[in-house]
Amino acid sequence: MGERREVDTGFEGFRLWPGALSASEQSALLADVRAAVAEAPLYRPVTPGGRPFSVRMTNMGELGWVSDRDGYRYQSSHPGTGRSWPQIPTLLTTLWFELTGWRDPPDACLVNLYRDEAKMGLHQDRDEHDLTAPVLSVSLGDTAVFRVAPAGGGRGSTVRLASGDVCALTGPARLARHGVDRVLAGSSGLLDGGGRLNLTLRRAGPPR
Ligand code: SIN
Ligand code: FE2
Repeated sequence: MGERREVDTGFEGFRLWPGALSASEQSALLADVRAAVAEAPLYRPVTPGGRPFSVRMTNMGELGWVSDRDGYRYQSSHPGTGRSWPQIPTLLTTLWFELTGWRDPPDACLVNLYRDEAKMGLHQDRDEHDLTAPVLSVSLGDTAVFRVAPAGGGRGSTVRLASGDVCALTGPARLARHGVDRVLAGSSGLLDGGGRLNLTLRRAGPPR
């Protein structure tokens, strides 16, 4: 792996490494994700209130984040196939240790596919066992307009996440509200058919 350059976001704990993944790392990672999706198909979850997400999802790792009428949770199997989730690619686990320095490996990687008008409303990530473990997010494909706002309130600010960019919610920003206002169609040629993939690595379960 190459050298990662972190930039100052002005938001303590919201860490950003633009262009962290080279073009060849992005292609290799995309191939791994394609293989995972062949085993654990993307599906469109519903919120606990019954509204379909505009994003399609699947997971990699011991645990996968799911949402349905019963609520949000982590579980060890795909809700459609009943099979365990595919493994997290080595490149992602290596990146997690390199950038976060966290003591335990990630045990969950949510895969979000944004096509067409898909977006993600402001929310907090708070279904994990240890809410001090970092959340590391890898972007592939079209650029996202990503919003990040303090946990306590306010509209916050936006940052563009392009293919190969990596960001993290850590420390004082771990419970920041965040979401994707929109995806800039045609900004990357990485994905066949366009759109954006986001891979969110987390330590969801208890420490090892
Ligand atoms: C998420 O918060 O689950 C997704 C964020 C993103 O797609 O960048
Ligand atoms: Fe999130």
